Amino acid sequence: MARATLRIRPKDSRRGTVRIGQLVMASIRNRLDRYGGHPLVPFALGDGSIRWYGRCKARGAVKALDLMLRYKTVRQRSVSVCAPLSIEDHAIQSMPDASPAKWHLAHTTWFFEQLVLSTIGSPSIDPRYRLLFNSDAESFGPLVDRAMRGRISRPSLEEVHAYRAAVDGRIEEALAADRLDGPAQAVIELGLHHEQQHQELLLTDVKHVLGTQPLQPAYRTDLERTGGGTIGPLEWIELDGGLVEMGAGEHGFSFANERPRHQAVIAPFSLATRPLCNAEVLAFMGDGGYDEPRLWLEDGFATAQREGWRAPLYWEHRDGMWMQYDLAGVREVDAAETACHLSYYEADAIARWTQARLPTEAEWELAATGLRPRAAHWADDDRLHPRPATGDGIRQLFGDVWEWTQSAYAPYPGARSLAGSIGEYNGKFSSGNMVLRGGSCLTPRGHVRASYRNFFAPSARWQMTGVRLATDRGAP
Ligand SMILES: [Fe+2]
Repeated sequence: MARATLRIRPKDSRRGTVRIGQLVMASIRNRLDRYGGHPLVPFALGDGSIRWYGRCKARGAVKALDLMLRYKTVRQRSVSVCAPLSIEDHAIQSMPDASPAKWHLAHTTWFFEQLVLSTIGSPSIDPRYRLLFNSDAESFGPLVDRAMRGRISRPSLEEVHAYRAAVDGRIEEALAADRLDGPAQAVIELGLHHEQQHQELLLTDVKHVLGTQPLQPAYRTDLERTGGGTIGPLEWIELDGGLVEMGAGEHGFSFANERPRHQAVIAPFSLATRPLCNAEVLAFMGDGGYDEPRLWLEDGFATAQREGWRAPLYWEHRDGMWMQYDLAGVREVDAAETACHLSYYEADAIARWTQARLPTEAEWELAATGLRPRAAHWADDDRLHPRPATGDGIRQLFGDVWEWTQSAYAPYPGARSLAGSIGEYNGKFSSGNMVLRGGSCLTPRGHVRASYRNFFAPSARWQMTGVRLATDRGAP
């Protein structure tokens, strides 16, 4: 944890010195509130330099320090996610949709260099990186084709880590020196949420690298693997719908695609209290679901036939048993665990087989509003695979698996794209992607909220995706 020291000398001459870490930030804020009437507050960083700020400036300094601490924490997490990988693991691109781990480490760094440091005149660290580690923002110049990312052997992994360290040093220096104004700090905030997205992509892409090679090595062998558990029949909650508000409000961080908050009309519907489990997918398979075109969208069935889908991704039939690869290695499919690695096409077909349907994203958000995402099962819980949805009431709406909705990834009514490169980076919509909600067991805790919109192509299977059913009225 980063350490710095804040000395507060209030009017009554009492002196207090606290070590600054995430846990004491609230205490510092309280002290500033308590002594806010004093005209000046001494504010000192760990290098021993002391600055005297007026109350407002002191608040700004605390905000910048808070941001710096979160910056360090999020950036370190990306390195931790990659720690179990070999140098060779970092370089492989197993399919065009997935990127090498080395590229993720560099691209998340590129974001801070191009969108923050370049705006304050910081010289380029290496001009090659502007081209190599851009993702798809054409306003930064020519792009490297996504499918070519695995062929970028230079810079080396060591150089990429040096690039991260150089950018981190400059960002932290600029924050400490109060050289980043409010808009620049907002871009850092955006960059941290962007990096958390890539931390999940790192895991899904590494899983594809390891899970599709002959020996299917484990990413980690120390992950939680308590098996079994019994789950009850699928139950339903009734929601009245009506004229509702959805989307992100004014307060707190949100991506541009969650705004503006707007009204939607929802007819009365029922939502399943849990996502589908492996036993239900096995029943679909046993009933010939993958061979029945009437259950599928036309393009979905064509894709399933062309790709030879007979089961979820990472499943394999061996010696009369269904086995699955997960990040801890290969094991027998656990019938009680929440089903994952299903495409939208499969989710839609399975829903039709059950005589239900997928929820719209407005329905999903209505059901999720007011629930506490932090209590869900996230990547921080060190399982990196869904758990069985045991218990009562609505379960796993947040965490475990991203839930496909039947909503296409379109902008909300009244949406306006942001100006400049940020707008291009943060506001692209498409007709060919479907919205997913709720986050997964590979998502960092704190990253997802009720209004959060993820999106992938309907054929995508390598993300941690599952199925929750809805019906128009009552249970089927
Ligand atoms: Fe990105």
